[in-house]
Amino acid sequence: MVVENKATITYVQLLKEDLVVFRVVPNDGIIPNYKAGQFITLGIPVISENYKTVRRAYSLASHPENRKYYEFVVRWVRKPLPGRVTTQIFYASEGDKVTLGLPTGNALTINERLHDGRKDDRRIVCVGGGTGIAPFVSFAKHLHAVGDKREIVVLHGASYVDELSYRDTFTKLEEESLDRGKDQWNFRYRAAVSRPQEWFNRAWKGQTGRVENFLRARDGGKSPLEELVGEKITTENTSFYICGWQGTIDGVMDFLSPQGFVTYHDKREDGSFEVKYESYG
Ligand SMILES: Cc1cc2nc3c(=O)[nH]c(=O)nc-3n(C[C@H](O)[C@H](O)[C@H](O)COP(=O)(O)OP(=O)(O)OC[C@H]3O[C@@H](n4cnc5c(N)ncnc54)[C@H](O)[C@@H]3O)c2cc1C
Ligand SMILES: NC(=O)c1ccc[n+]([C@@H]2O[C@H](COP(=O)([O-])OP(=O)(O)OC[C@H]3O[C@@H](n4cnc5c(N)ncnc54)[C@H](OP(=O)(O)O)[C@@H]3O)[C@@H](O)[C@H]2O)c1
Repeated sequence: MVVENKATITYVQLLKEDLVVFRVVPNDGIIPNYKAGQFITLGIPVISENYKTVRRAYSLASHPENRKYYEFVVRWVRKPLPGRVTTQIFYASEGDKVTLGLPTGNALTINERLHDGRKDDRRIVCVGGGTGIAPFVSFAKHLHAVGDKREIVVLHGASYVDELSYRDTFTKLEEESLDRGKDQWNFRYRAAVSRPQEWFNRAWKGQTGRVENFLRARDGGKSPLEELVGEKITTENTSFYICGWQGTIDGVMDFLSPQGFVTYHDKREDGSFEVKYESYG
């Protein structure tokens, strides 16, 4: 049986004309327990279709310890034709009604145990393309809230600097890591801008190109990711979580597969794997 609850949009922050962060609160006030990295099915009445409710999946950017609201970051899909749900979301404002399913999906939940039952203490590297950063906002806030001691690296790729949603949030989490010490909270954030030649990005001094370039070895040596963490990335010391276009997942795996990394979808006979991903086509 499909469970669907009535809910209300309580906050809308337009980051630019086609990128929005918004919050939704179930009308009964109940936010069920869920896991960082899950998504939810959101339904919205579409005016041009006689207020018929149309549903789509959206990753939860909020974390499970936040019992007040769900948060989402959504791109308005305009090409080749305006998307049915996203167009409606961009007309929505505080007080508007939507419906929600229950949080679901295991593709991107955080691994706690290795295949042999030992605790998974590997470094966590999150690679998000565009709005594919959403599950990793949830990861970072959750891991911070529970005091997880693993090393966490968030890599975000966007076409334009103003599409680096949650840059402030991640930067503050990194600053806290520097203040408190890595033994208390070990968090790093780096971003890549893929259209550096465009005028709007002229002040960008960070990594350029698509986000998977963080894994590309420079002149046969270390990759920017390896320079950041200070050691060679291996299947023993690092796990990867990727969300974005299929091209982003393929691009990351082009670097990882030759080094022996395998995905959850394609795990070894003994059940071991190092990479989890969610693709949006
Ligand atoms: C697990 C999961 C999590 C997701 N999380 C997020 C998230 O956090 N943020 C986010 O922004 N998105 C997310 N998505 C994507 C989201 O579910 C929707 O697919 C997206 O928002 C587009 O929905 P839409 O109704 O606006 O577009 P649709 O109406 O479904 O259109 C989809 C595509 O088809 C094209 N199209 C529509 N009609 C036609 C036509 N007649 N002929 C040709 N082309 C057409 C549109 O231009 C568009 O490119 C997620 C998807 C999944 C599966
Ligand atoms: N969990 C999910 O399934 C999920 C989550 C979030 C969003 N989505 C959906 O994904 C769609 C677009 O997301 P977005 O607008 O956030 O992305 P975007 O801004 O178009 O792209 C983000 C980054 O990915 C790069 N990129 C674009 N196409 C690529 C490809 N084929 N291969 C590798 N890299 C690519 C872009 O580089 P360039 O500058 O070179 O284009 C940019 O650096 C939306 O329709 C959204 O609804 C799904």
